[in-house]
Amino acid sequence: MRDASSLRLQYLRAPRGSWHLAGVTEAPAVLALTGRPLRLFLIGATGTIGRAIAQALLARGHEVVCFVRPTAGKGLIDLAGAEIRFGDVTDLKSVERDGFKSERFDAVVSCLASRTGAPGDVWAIDYAAQLNVLNVAKSLGVDRVILLSAICLQKPKLAFQHAKIAFEEALIGSGLSYTIVRPTAFFKSLSGQVKRVQRGKPWLLFGDGMLTACKPISDEDLAAFLVRCVEDSKLRNRVLPIGGPGPAITPKEQADALFALLGREPRYRHVPVRLMDIIIAMLTMLGRVSRRLRDKAELARIGRYYATESMLVLDQETGRYDAQMTPSTGTATLLDHYARLVRDKG
Ligand SMILES: NC(=O)c1ccc[n+]([C@@H]2O[C@H](COP(=O)([O-])OP(=O)(O)OC[C@H]3O[C@@H](n4cnc5c(N)ncnc54)[C@H](OP(=O)(O)O)[C@@H]3O)[C@@H](O)[C@H]2O)c1
Repeated sequence: MRDASSLRLQYLRAPRGSWHLAGVTEAPAVLALTGRPLRLFLIGATGTIGRAIAQALLARGHEVVCFVRPTAGKGLIDLAGAEIRFGDVTDLKSVERDGFKSERFDAVVSCLASRTGAPGDVWAIDYAAQLNVLNVAKSLGVDRVILLSAICLQKPKLAFQHAKIAFEEALIGSGLSYTIVRPTAFFKSLSGQVKRVQRGKPWLLFGDGMLTACKPISDEDLAAFLVRCVEDSKLRNRVLPIGGPGPAITPKEQADALFALLGREPRYRHVPVRLMDIIIAMLTMLGRVSRRLRDKAELARIGRYYATESMLVLDQETGRYDAQMTPSTGTATLLDHYARLVRDKG
């Protein structure tokens, strides 16, 4: 695989600091819904879903301008065919000058998200930086914003969830059309134990492994859904929870599926949720004197949240998570993904 530095050599320097990858754009597919290619401003383009949606949009014949940070590395490899602009999304002036450049765009697509989950970073990125982009987009008459969000915002307890909700509210109140997509768990978030199990270690289960469930969604299926949101005007001004195909699956079922693929007897180690509570309490106390430990406490809280809350639609009447109420899209299952990882040895 080529690395980012060799890839950069293939970019042709364009006027005013933007870069185009030479000669790799595929022939555009038919634009069934919009009738014409759209011009899209994409942030978070170097992330997991950002890369997948950039490719899906380009394959549909749309024009994609990605605004990335100068340190963006390997993520750029998957953005062939898009225009890459470098700048600082946390700086309003840079968003105007280096990002939008006073040009016309049909829509903004945001897959931007804090990489750390630390409270300072989530407010700087998931809220303030996205607000910068929203404000510049609005000033330039951009029609709409498609926002990648998260299903867990229905029950907010964590700093990143509050920051995301604050931005969703700003977007909804902005006067621009919006489509907010709140997906369930991504495959990557459910694959962290594959390598350790392949090395012969047990699968770590919180409680009995059936405290939660989710409908995992692949990067490509989510990207295809986001493209529909970009193209289909009937999906304007909606907040859309979305999961992948098939029934909801618990952590124990995920583990069982992996052991079956490996042809091995299941082996689990049960981790009591109470242990996480003790760790969180200690880190929270120590966090009073250290920002580093405060951030670690938040990470532990994030871990506990996902160990105890399902990534499914929350029925507001019963207060229960409901797999039936959680819409599905796509074709790829987590089992397909595990089978590929096992085949490729993790
Ligand atoms: N993981 C899950 O299971 C799951 C489930 C449901 C919803 N979600 C939601 O999906 C979204 C994230 O998806 P993802 O996994 O695709 O994210 P990701 O891979 O972590 O990518 C984050 C993107 O944001 C950019 N970014 C972060 N900090 C930045 C900064 N300071 N300046 C400029 N760019 C910055 C990253 O750029 P660099 O490449 O330069 O770092 C990258 O392009 C989040 O909103 C999350 O809540 C996740």
